[in-house]
Amino acid sequence: MKQELAEDPREAPQPGREARPARADGVAPDAAWRALLDGASAPYRAAGRFAWHFARGKLGRDPVFRALLERGELAGRARVLDIGCGQGLLASLLQACAEAAAQGRWPAAWGEAPGARQYTGIELMTRDVARAQAATAGLALAPRFVCADMRQAELPDCDLVVILDVLHYVDHAAQAALLARVRSALGRRGRLLLRVGDMDDARGFAASQWVDRLVTTVRGHRVPPTWGRSVAQWRELLQGLGFAVQALPMSRGTPFANVLLLADAAAIDGDSA
Ligand SMILES: C[S@@+](CC[C@H](N)C(=O)[O-])C[C@H]1O[C@@H](n2cnc3c(N)ncnc32)[C@H](O)[C@@H]1O
Repeated sequence: MKQELAEDPREAPQPGREARPARADGVAPDAAWRALLDGASAPYRAAGRFAWHFARGKLGRDPVFRALLERGELAGRARVLDIGCGQGLLASLLQACAEAAAQGRWPAAWGEAPGARQYTGIELMTRDVARAQAATAGLALAPRFVCADMRQAELPDCDLVVILDVLHYVDHAAQAALLARVRSALGRRGRLLLRVGDMDDARGFAASQWVDRLVTTVRGHRVPPTWGRSVAQWRELLQGLGFAVQALPMSRGTPFANVLLLADAAAIDGDSA
């Protein structure tokens, strides 16, 4: 059965997310987003034309980045771990957000600005890691990138784990094992933001698989099989690990069946953080 989802976050009201007085009421959200897009893409010029065009295209067209900021979903989390980080776009976006907030350019209509102080990205592909490092070397956030397979990589203690469009690259057992390690790395009150394709939406899921295969081939990688689950199955897996889960549709403007799972760690015995 198809899992029921919350309303589209771009349309839903934001209960409990009142604006903080320090923020500039006059900052228009669209202008603020364009400035963030410019700021987050600019460092990629140092990593070459492909890296810059990719950064602009991905940040500009994928609805997840702006939605996370509008909703304040990255607020109050100092230590961020981005698994399957690609060329590290989130690190650059976090830096642009920190600068905008510090300069009073954060829209009052949005949730609280991200609070990242530390960023670690884990990525399998050496070329992506090289682009990430070339682009972000000068950022105050000083992001750290680890070129490794997430199935074996050590996970640092963290407050927020972000995994966007990555887990379908490994089989079901590896997905479950990684998520159990993520739960341990997060400790008490940590949060996981996991975007997945909903296998119950056959057409949207097939569209994302088709694009995945195309991109993988064009980038000259071996094309691996992919492993999906329905939203209900993802939810069950996460709840079994002690997460409280909320699901939001997250593919607006695309043909995909992407869903963002907001998974908050419920305190369990043995948590230290
Ligand atoms: C669709 S891209 C998403 C990139 C990034 N999360 C984003 O949203 O912009 C998936 C990324 O996961 C990486 N990946 C796939 N399998 C991996 C593994 N076993 N360990 C680490 N990274 C992996 C790929 O190389 C690719 O960069």
